[in-house]
Amino acid sequence: MNLPNIKEARKRTKDKVEVSYDRYQIPDSIKNVGKNKKYTLLTYGCQMNVHDSENIAGIMEEMGYTKEEDMTKSDVIILNTCAIRENAHNKVVGILGRIKKLKEEREDLITIIGGCMPQEEKISNMLKEKYKWVDIVLGTHNIYDLPKLLEEVFNERKQNIEVYSIEGEIIEGLPVKRDSKYKAWVNIQYGCDKFCSYCIVPYTRGKQRSRLPIDILKEVKELKEKGYKEITLLGQNVNAYGKDLDIGYTMANLLEDTSKIGIERIRFVTSHPWDFTDEMIDIIAKYDNIMPYIHLPIQSGSDNILKKMNRRYTIEEYKELYYKIKNKIPGVSITTDIIVGFPNETKEDFEETLKVYNELKYDLAYTFIYSKREGTPASTMEDSISLEEKEKRLQRLNKVVNKYAKEANLKYLNKVVPVLIEGPSDKNNKLMGYTDTMKLVNIEADPSYIGKIVDVLITDVKTWSMEGVINSDRK
Ligand code: 5AD
Ligand code: SF4
Repeated sequence: MNLPNIKEARKRTKDKVEVSYDRYQIPDSIKNVGKNKKYTLLTYGCQMNVHDSENIAGIMEEMGYTKEEDMTKSDVIILNTCAIRENAHNKVVGILGRIKKLKEEREDLITIIGGCMPQEEKISNMLKEKYKWVDIVLGTHNIYDLPKLLEEVFNERKQNIEVYSIEGEIIEGLPVKRDSKYKAWVNIQYGCDKFCSYCIVPYTRGKQRSRLPIDILKEVKELKEKGYKEITLLGQNVNAYGKDLDIGYTMANLLEDTSKIGIERIRFVTSHPWDFTDEMIDIIAKYDNIMPYIHLPIQSGSDNILKKMNRRYTIEEYKELYYKIKNKIPGVSITTDIIVGFPNETKEDFEETLKVYNELKYDLAYTFIYSKREGTPASTMEDSISLEEKEKRLQRLNKVVNKYAKEANLKYLNKVVPVLIEGPSDKNNKLMGYTDTMKLVNIEADPSYIGKIVDVLITDVKTWSMEGVINSDRK
């Protein structure tokens, strides 16, 4: 048993990051253990977790398991959890209640909890004390261990907690079962060294470590050969890609080399304003297959709060970058993240956020009420603002967000734009896809268009999505 430790998780050394190509193995005794058995995988949180789940699915299927949406019919239930805010935690606790009931009916059901929540000391201790019936608890650093942990559970039915608070390594060669045949996530970097004062990620995901360019470019080439149309380069702070490698290779270099492979659409998330270079902007502007869409979290419009958040930029600096991006990349769409109600955020601080928003008029924003995360510096800051007041501020901000989102979408009305059609929409028999600027479009079209990039005429726009019809087939 290995439990996490927040002090260890905070450590950062200059030690070289180990890249391992053969760590993942399936023990002989369980090679076909999943034959005629099913697993259900529930994923919470960010794209990083979504992609980790694709690796978990790949591992399960290599052991012979097949995927099952309905957990009441499954032999193994896996929760890939998120720790970013308290509500993510509450969702998991709710699901655990349901799984406990299933487990009471079927003793052989196996339950696995992975992802960011077990990396929190408090959570792993809670699972150890109060949720003894959970069979396996693993963290973000040892997904590759899943077959070995399963083998141990089969041999000896007792709870197995293996969560490491290490700075982290890079594990290559994990199997992957991708959710889509057309768009793919590609990790370029793990962890984060920014230590924004409210954020748990540097503790749950370890130090910033970049995958080697050769491994990333190989993966992208393979995806292109398999017919993928779009890739998203993934990391907590992708603009800092390569800094830790000390080989003079930057995010701008990676974007250019990825672009030259010729995959049709390239995206990347998430950008921290601190590391966004002019060179990167020039490369995005230069290559047509790098999408004109940038997610650039601002978090707050007040210099006072930004300083307390340890964001390392002022509003003036942020705005300078924002306008540089807008001016150099034609038609670019920019979205952001904002936290409302950071400890002791004053009315004036909040008004500053509204003021900046009204000036920058983002295409969209993801807005959150500040959530206290144990172990982060902000968690010990005094906070006299009531939740009610924070909720009111969030509502005010969301009104502004929605207003500009609709305005941004209105610019597309009656225009023809390329859309990668991904599959059926939730709505009445339509298909759905995204524009190059990451606008969601519901389209009246024949399913044979799925997987193609097609010109779509926008016939109606809403706040969060648009409606369209096929204009002409580009491919
Ligand atoms: N409380 C609220 N929002 C948070 N985020 C990160 N940590 C917290 C927290 N403790 C938000 C930030 C980040 C996004 C992924 O989640 O806005 O950009
Ligand atoms: Fe969290 Fe800041 Fe790192 Fe983003 S850059 S993951 S908000 S610490």
